[in-house]
Amino acid sequence: HLLKTARNKFYTNFNKKFSVSQLANANKVAVMGASGGIGQPLSLLLKQSPLVDQLSLYDIQHTKGVGADLSHIETKCKVQSYVGQDQLLESLEGVNVVVIPAGVPRKPGMTRDDLFNVNATIVADIATAIAKVSPEAILCIISNPVNSTVPIASEIMKKHGVYSSKKILGVTTLDIVRANTFVAELKGLDVTKTSVPVVGGHSGNTIVPLLSQASPTVQFTKEELDSLTKRIQNAGTEVVEAKAGAGSATLSMAFAGARFTFSVLEALNGKQGVVECAYVAAEGLETSYFATPILFGKHGVEKSLGIGKITDYEQQLIQTAVKELKGNIEKGIKFVNEVY
Ligand code: NAI
Repeated sequence: HLLKTARNKFYTNFNKKFSVSQLANANKVAVMGASGGIGQPLSLLLKQSPLVDQLSLYDIQHTKGVGADLSHIETKCKVQSYVGQDQLLESLEGVNVVVIPAGVPRKPGMTRDDLFNVNATIVADIATAIAKVSPEAILCIISNPVNSTVPIASEIMKKHGVYSSKKILGVTTLDIVRANTFVAELKGLDVTKTSVPVVGGHSGNTIVPLLSQASPTVQFTKEELDSLTKRIQNAGTEVVEAKAGAGSATLSMAFAGARFTFSVLEALNGKQGVVECAYVAAEGLETSYFATPILFGKHGVEKSLGIGKITDYEQQLIQTAVKELKGNIEKGIKFVNEVY
């Protein structure tokens, strides 16, 4: 009886001190490549959010400075910084979401696939560390070529026996953000209420905006469809050329990456009905990975909402995308099988 009373007292005090919901919401997010063009503004946005309790910053350089700087901001989120390979494993301890913008960006004239040789190894090494230290974490992969880096991270997880297709997400949100902006500009809509799904992958022809499903419903002429589709597919290159050798999209990507991470965290915290497009392992489609609108849940992907009803025009775009995607996916899988 004494033992029972003591135990009850302990649990009452414990629950008073740490309300269960508070514990459930203790989110620790790691940013891998935190000192980079995307990593820094992304970390700033995450530090500002009440959804993030702890922020772990990892990079092979400069994280001590970025961390010291961010840690002075008067928000509740605690910042820890880790620098260099020796601290990679430690940076991932206890994290439930890992965002990965590590790797080289494009220069004018380069495709995302040209980044493969450098970024494939970076993503594979980070995924290996996650498999060892935080195999339950949800991965949000920004590093290009996303079409290949998502299969790479998945294969690494499989090799370590900790693979879950629900937890490996390729971040294509910038394509949606761009589509929303361009459609709203063209049609004079309120951009905050404009929503355009973008499916397929994240490079040139594999980016397929479903303009027929734009909300609110809008009519486009054939010329408008052609020019909007092309602009959404090449918007990354627009930024690469404007930056003239100084990198690719960083600020808009940080915004998109933060939006995506917040959605993942809200769903983890139990919010219902959270949907974002993401490039994930696909079932019943022509390729083994494909971006569609995804319903998020407490464990990452709850379910794919599919492509829905599309026009012949969009069907043709998807056919072109599928061919390229298959090659990108195979290349990623082959890389892991040969090197790891
Ligand atoms: P950046 O060069 O400014 O930053 C990359 C950071 O990664 C650097 O701080 C670098 O030290 C770090 N890094 C390199 N190797 C690392 C390793 N092994 N471990 C941890 N960190 C490492 O590049 P930026 O502009 O931030 O772009 C990062 C990546 O994001 C690129 O691959 C780029 O193509 C991609 N990207 C993806 C987009 C998307 O929509 N998914 C949009 C824009 C860029």
